[in-house]
Amino acid sequence: MGVEQDEHEGEFERCEKRLKCFGGEELSEDERGGKLPLQSGDFFFYPMVPSSIVVSDALEPDFPIIYVNTVFEMFTGYRAHEVLGRNCRFLQYRDPHAQRRHPLVDPVVVSEIRRCLEEGIGFQGELLNFRKDGTPLVNRLRLAPIHGDDGTITHVIGIQVFSEAKTDLNSVSYPVFKESCQQQFDQTGYYSPKSGQLQHSRHEEICGILQLSDEVLAQNILSRLTPRDVASIGSVCRRICQLTKNEHLRKMVCQNAWGREVTGALELMTKKKLGWGRLARELTTLEAVCWKKLTVGGAVEPSRCNFSACAAGNRLVLFGGEGVNMQPMDDTFVLNLDAANPEWRRVSVKSSPPGRWGHTLSCLNGSWLVVFGGYGRQGLLNDVFVLDLDAKQPTWKEVSGGTPPLPRSWHSSCTVEGSKLVVSGGCTDAGVLLRTHICWISP
Ligand SMILES: Cc1cc2nc3c(=O)[nH]c(=O)nc-3n(C[C@H](O)[C@H](O)[C@H](O)COP(=O)(O)O)c2cc1C
Repeated sequence: MGVEQDEHEGEFERCEKRLKCFGGEELSEDERGGKLPLQSGDFFFYPMVPSSIVVSDALEPDFPIIYVNTVFEMFTGYRAHEVLGRNCRFLQYRDPHAQRRHPLVDPVVVSEIRRCLEEGIGFQGELLNFRKDGTPLVNRLRLAPIHGDDGTITHVIGIQVFSEAKTDLNSVSYPVFKESCQQQFDQTGYYSPKSGQLQHSRHEEICGILQLSDEVLAQNILSRLTPRDVASIGSVCRRICQLTKNEHLRKMVCQNAWGREVTGALELMTKKKLGWGRLARELTTLEAVCWKKLTVGGAVEPSRCNFSACAAGNRLVLFGGEGVNMQPMDDTFVLNLDAANPEWRRVSVKSSPPGRWGHTLSCLNGSWLVVFGGYGRQGLLNDVFVLDLDAKQPTWKEVSGGTPPLPRSWHSSCTVEGSKLVVSGGCTDAGVLLRTHICWISP
């Protein structure tokens, strides 16, 4: 697949002619000086310019380039022999000798490219690139994986549409790369504090991770954490706190956690003055949640108290309770909050647990409901019943076997790991408080 320079010299010439034609400008051989025909400023906005194409080997580490076409060479100023065998990220460096990505290249897009390549899916997006001479370019990039006969990805094709970047490269203020407070790097590239309390010997006192540059910390470590962890790690020290407040970093973290689509939708909210940091915090801590009165249809009848209710996804389920004259109830009601007009409905079940109050109702695996204990007609109970809300004909089934918890009421319970019911506290008839008990349920 690799194409050497001289092999496509003819194609190069043809392409050059077409481009000259679209540009309406002839460059003399002298003007070209034997170099690539397009200089910065000459090549933007030709609607019919053929696509720049790069092919990388997906079976080799780091996707080395095995082919670039002449259009790529013309737009980027790099000759094929200079780029074959390299990863295409050099286009994110402002000059051929730069050691790292330019600060204005959006790290969110880069991490999205990385994710798509890791997951073997296509990518489409826009990012800042640079010609060999340092001219900024907007690259509308598409990446498409190519599968071999056995389904493995053997190559990735990149198609670039380059256009002029109206970017002021002198006003770099991208904070992830702008080194944070009081930081400088010594000749070995290690972090050394200019001032402040960290005046001790570097080797003894400074935590290894803090010797990394802001860029490495932000892009290689913080950006891979969950939104909640980013919020927590900010309390480690001032420097990390400052980095975690960076909007680009926050956006990247949100994108990793919730995907590109959701992040895109959330981005609209950040434009309404809610920064990424605040948004992520509200989403992970629910601190912005507030009560809203909901009026629903239907009714739980007959009326009762001491019932138990729990959520099964967006459905609220209620079981049993104490009716008039201390009547133990055994009916099941559901309120589907996803419905256009939510209303309480009695679930028609084939059989029910004995009526009770002071019991607990918990949800298991999204649609299974578990009733435990409480007070029934015969006194305290320690039975366990399970019902699949999504079954065609929902039926309460008793779960037997193992050592059940002691009979009790006024306890609390929850389910963990999809198979365990944890029953805590509660009391006996004599008012004795009971201990926590875990029982395994295999519906
Ligand atoms: C076939 C192919 C073409 C690519 N073309 C470009 C490109 O034109 N510009 C660019 O900035 N990155 C391009 N990339 C993406 C980079 O090579 C690299 O995968 C990206 O920067 C993410 O990885 P990194 O975080 O390790 O740099 C291309 C990748 C592949 C596989």
